[in-house]
Amino acid sequence: MGVRNAPPHAGSMLESLRGLGYALPTALADLVDNSIAAKSTDVAIHLEWAGPESWVRIVDDGDGMDDAALEAGMRLGARDPRAERDASDLGRFGLGLKTASFSQARRLTVASRRNGGPVVCLQWDLDLIGQEAGTEWPLFEGPAPGSEHLFAPLDFMEHGTIILWEKLDRIVTEGFAAADMIELADRIEAHLAMTFHRLLEGQQPELRVLLNGRQVKPWDPYLIGHPGKALESPEYRILHTIGVKVQCHILPHRDMLKTAAEQEAAAGPGGWTQQEGFYVYRNRRLLLAGGWLGLGDGGKPWPRDEAHRLARIRLDIPNSADAEWKINVLKSTASPPVRLRSQLHRLASQTRDTARRVFAHRGHITPVTGTRTNAAAETWQVRRSAQGTSYRIDRDHDLIASILNRAGSLKPDILALLRLIEETVPVQRIWLDTAEDKETPRTGFAGAPESEVIETLASMFEALVKFRGLSPPEARERLGRTPPFDRHLDLISALEVKETQ
Ligand SMILES: Nc1ncnc2c1ncn2[C@@H]1O[C@H](COP(=O)(O)OP(=O)(O)OP(=O)(O)O)[C@@H](O)[C@H]1O
Ligand SMILES: [Mg+2]
Repeated sequence: MGVRNAPPHAGSMLESLRGLGYALPTALADLVDNSIAAKSTDVAIHLEWAGPESWVRIVDDGDGMDDAALEAGMRLGARDPRAERDASDLGRFGLGLKTASFSQARRLTVASRRNGGPVVCLQWDLDLIGQEAGTEWPLFEGPAPGSEHLFAPLDFMEHGTIILWEKLDRIVTEGFAAADMIELADRIEAHLAMTFHRLLEGQQPELRVLLNGRQVKPWDPYLIGHPGKALESPEYRILHTIGVKVQCHILPHRDMLKTAAEQEAAAGPGGWTQQEGFYVYRNRRLLLAGGWLGLGDGGKPWPRDEAHRLARIRLDIPNSADAEWKINVLKSTASPPVRLRSQLHRLASQTRDTARRVFAHRGHITPVTGTRTNAAAETWQVRRSAQGTSYRIDRDHDLIASILNRAGSLKPDILALLRLIEETVPVQRIWLDTAEDKETPRTGFAGAPESEVIETLASMFEALVKFRGLSPPEARERLGRTPPFDRHLDLISALEVKETQ
């Protein structure tokens, strides 16, 4: 059989790789991955705005590379993606350094020093591909003339690496001004704060990242320790996996976040609905922030919607599961293997249900106790059918049942009134008011004077004692479990049976 050697054309291959889909923040995160894999603790990113002379530089204090390692690292396909990696390695494809860099810049220079050895430096320049006779993939030694001074920090370091991007044709496009650079820096900061938050957290963080001299503060998607949180589950191990772990979180209702700044910080860089769902981490580095991994009901994936915006599920996977989870070169997607979907679906469904209740009840949900079956009825029942969802007032609700019992000839009128109320619930209006970032519609006696709560409570209490035959302690106990009165335990304990004349 005839065989041909068909290597790619260097020029067109490199140009095509520029279009993999990186944005500047994701490209920088890919380089920070490399720094972390090289055991860096400090990474300093500098964006220098100087028109066509602009540059971006990343200095890390990691192990660094010697000449051979640097040459290997500069090659496309530096490592075999099938090879087993160190458990803490964030790389997979042997491509990131090059693809991330070329997505933003036409020139990539890397200088490095290992163990106090000499500084080594190699450079790719897309404009010089095809210029050297006999060298199809020319890797130049040393920095480009005029850029030497940008590698000075390495003179004072025992080990570390400097990545320099120049000719930023994808960033500094026509009309790009200093103000755009500032906006860009903000986006980079938000992305790094989110992507590496677990490494940036704590009194003595494992990693410190400086962006133009300013320390990047971690963004915690889960508001760990916030007293208003409705759920912070234990960490579950997913069965039939090695090291896949899940923790479910439900964030506090907006009303429990005091200031606008606190609300905005909790929402996150993409806003509430964008940020709901699964957060997938690989070696504690975030790959995916939000979305429901294609899980859903009846063949339809769950959309990211307002009602479930308080649900965030932390999912950890090890790097040994990369192929199974279909990690991409950009480290921006991951997809659960089919065999794990039902377990994840179950956890996500439960979390979503609770999150929806918290969202609808201004953050207050009655703790679920073992005595659910004899818990007092909710006033409103939600009925879902093929025709759609409808809201009905429960005729067995203590107060309503007792009124109907005593209503006599008025009963048909009262039933008609209930029906009228049910048919005219201003659903659209409530939905709009809730969805728009306004004040949540008030329910559950929120903000009502105590006297109004007492009035309703007293009627309920009387109905329970006189018409349902409960003893006063039983009635008080029952009211204590009935929303929205369960928030007024002090008023309930003061309830007494009124003597009837
Ligand atoms: N900052 C750095 N410090 C030390 N070594 C580095 C650094 N950046 C890159 N390297 C070396 O260069 C190699 C190639 O990096 P590159 O990002 O292209 O691929 P990778 O990290 O192995 O895999 P991936 O494509 O998934 O990122 C790395 O495996 C590492 O050995
Ligand atoms: Mg990499």
